[in-house]
Amino acid sequence: MISTSESKQAKLQAVQLEIRRMRAQDVPAVMEIEAVSFGRHHWSDESFYNEMNNHVGRYYSLVRSDTSELLGYCGFWLIVDEAHITTIAVRPELRGNALGELMLLHILDRSMANSIHWGTLEVRASNYNAQNLYYKYGFSTVGVRPRYYQDNQEDALIMTTSDIGSDAYRASYKNLKQSLQTRLDGLPKGFGT
Ligand SMILES: CC(C)(COP(=O)(O)OP(=O)(O)OC[C@H]1O[C@@H](n2cnc3c(N)ncnc32)[C@H](O)[C@@H]1OP(=O)(O)O)[C@@H](O)C(=O)NCCC(=O)NCCS
Repeated sequence: MISTSESKQAKLQAVQLEIRRMRAQDVPAVMEIEAVSFGRHHWSDESFYNEMNNHVGRYYSLVRSDTSELLGYCGFWLIVDEAHITTIAVRPELRGNALGELMLLHILDRSMANSIHWGTLEVRASNYNAQNLYYKYGFSTVGVRPRYYQDNQEDALIMTTSDIGSDAYRASYKNLKQSLQTRLDGLPKGFGT
């Protein structure tokens, strides 16, 4: 386990990490992160078991390569030419170490490999940290779903990318990927598979 004090100072390196498809055995650890990340109306364990069997769903776990400890998870739906990001979360004490960015990059990488053109998602209007992550990867706000979240009636922002297959997007994506690779001293095992 990476301790809280260690995590803020320690630079996590790609060699310590692995990203792989989510397994049923991951769900208890996923639920620990889920419960502290998404408020009272978070997904249930059953939602994750169902989503793992959803034929349009792709769910991934980010784990420590030596201990298999779950550090974060993400998921998306592949619908025709669109990747709809359904979830992304990092263990709270490890946030700010580029792990969320790594998972978003993985989603975009997988999406490009599947000839997807558009990334879409919904995010709480107050969730500036996540919005900043999405802005960094070229998402912009294209609409609002009023009172979308049942727990506090908060609005959802609808965010989408420009065409991720375009030369312009790929050039900017390549630069961001290179910077992340430099920051993490590589990419983790399983990235892009
Ligand atoms: C959103 C979340 C996944 C980001 O993961 P993370 O590992 O902490 O973020 P990263 O370290 O990868 O940061 C990547 C970018 O996100 C933005 N960001 C992340 N944390 C931020 C913060 N505290 N303040 C401002 N921007 C922030 C920045 O643009 C950052 O890029 P930079 O490092 O160049 O500044 C994480 O905060 C989380 O799990 N939140 C709870 C679950 C959630 O809200 N998920 C999103 C649902 S739509």
